[in-house]
Amino acid sequence: MGQITFIEHTGTEHVVEIEEGQSLMQAAVDNGIPGIDADCGGACACGTCHVIVDNNWIHATGSINADELGMLQLTPDKSETSRLSCQVTLSESLDGLVVRLPEFQM
Ligand code: FES
Repeated sequence: MGQITFIEHTGTEHVVEIEEGQSLMQAAVDNGIPGIDADCGGACACGTCHVIVDNNWIHATGSINADELGMLQLTPDKSETSRLSCQVTLSESLDGLVVRLPEFQM
């Protein structure tokens, strides 16, 4: 359906194919992206799937609900464009998405 790019904190880039309807977290895990632990399996309960969305893409990733926002407040390296990747559902509109990985997860 499209491609997205994960950039590690070291600058190493990983371009992966995405499928409609899967979460950004699942795309990372399925492709062995280092730095996405996803300990809770996508339940918005661990904060270990934190990514920092490229400024140009933050609006395309959709809105943040209260649960995600609460979890993000506890996340090291939180930025203005932080998201929990398990809460971002991939679609054609995210073809080309670029996200950065923090140096540390929770
Ligand atoms: S996988 Fe646990 S909060 Fe996203």
